Amino acid sequence: MLITIKSILAETKSELVSSGIETDDFELRLLLSAATGTDIKTMPRNQMDISREQFAKFKFMISERKQHKPVDKILGYRGFYKYDFSVSTDVLTPRPDTEILVENAIKAAQNNNYNHILELGVGSGCIIISILAELKHADGEGVDISPQALQIAQRNAENIGVSSRIKLRCADWFDNDFNNNFNRKFDLIVSNPPYINTNEIKTLAREVSGYDPMLALDGGSDGLASYRRIAEIAPLLLETGGMLFLEIGEGQGADVIDIFSRQGLYYEQSFNDLSGIQRCITFKK
Ligand SMILES: C[S@@+](CC[C@H](N)C(=O)[O-])C[C@H]1O[C@@H](n2cnc3c(N)ncnc32)[C@H](O)[C@@H]1O
Repeated sequence: MLITIKSILAETKSELVSSGIETDDFELRLLLSAATGTDIKTMPRNQMDISREQFAKFKFMISERKQHKPVDKILGYRGFYKYDFSVSTDVLTPRPDTEILVENAIKAAQNNNYNHILELGVGSGCIIISILAELKHADGEGVDISPQALQIAQRNAENIGVSSRIKLRCADWFDNDFNNNFNRKFDLIVSNPPYINTNEIKTLAREVSGYDPMLALDGGSDGLASYRRIAEIAPLLLETGGMLFLEIGEGQGADVIDIFSRQGLYYEQSFNDLSGIQRCITFKK
């Protein structure tokens, strides 16, 4: 069937807007290109010949979007730093703000010749995989409590070509013997732990609360539970002279600096995200 793209996009947009979903032409073109298996860069602007099955697939994607499912979770991937990462409802969608941590951790590793990296809470693997992809001589370990998330991280590590340099492990950092999982120390530890306070989760957009896993969001009654625990375990896993890079939630900087300083790490620096909010904090041992 021959479709006129402009009118399909306009009809779909008004259908979504009347269901309370914000959208734009780029997002809709992305979905149409995925439904038809066409590269968005070469997709025609005016008319296009598509099969009934492809049209039905596009309509199904729109019905998912109407349920507030985010576009990346409909498409099954999200661009982060330099690569596309597979995503599903089992992992947090990688956020552009997290690229600040990645960029600065790579610089620190290059300047200090850090080669052994640990990530606590890998999710899709976007942080440690991006770092290992830049540091060709480095290796790493990644931990997550969610076996489903680890499967996605493994797939991303294979697709991005770092699977031979990363070991993924299912473990809970609240376990008393968590540190026994490792038989070495690390030069660099990175973590973006869950940091939303439990009561705030229900106030988040449905795109987040309905489609990012609770395990990735819930930081306990004050949002700081995982930082307190990571402050107990990370100093013992870090080499002297090594660094810890943490992502934090808005307004958590002073508390997080206090929590980690009490465990003997030295606060180094913080970095703001794209909106000017303090988002990444670094410590040295
Ligand atoms: C905010 S997400 C970050 C995911 C990914 N690193 C990113 O930045 O997109 C936090 C991750 O920590 C994991 N996690 C939460 N609690 C954990 C625990 N007690 N032990 C190990 N991993 C945990 C979650 O499953 C989730 O994948």
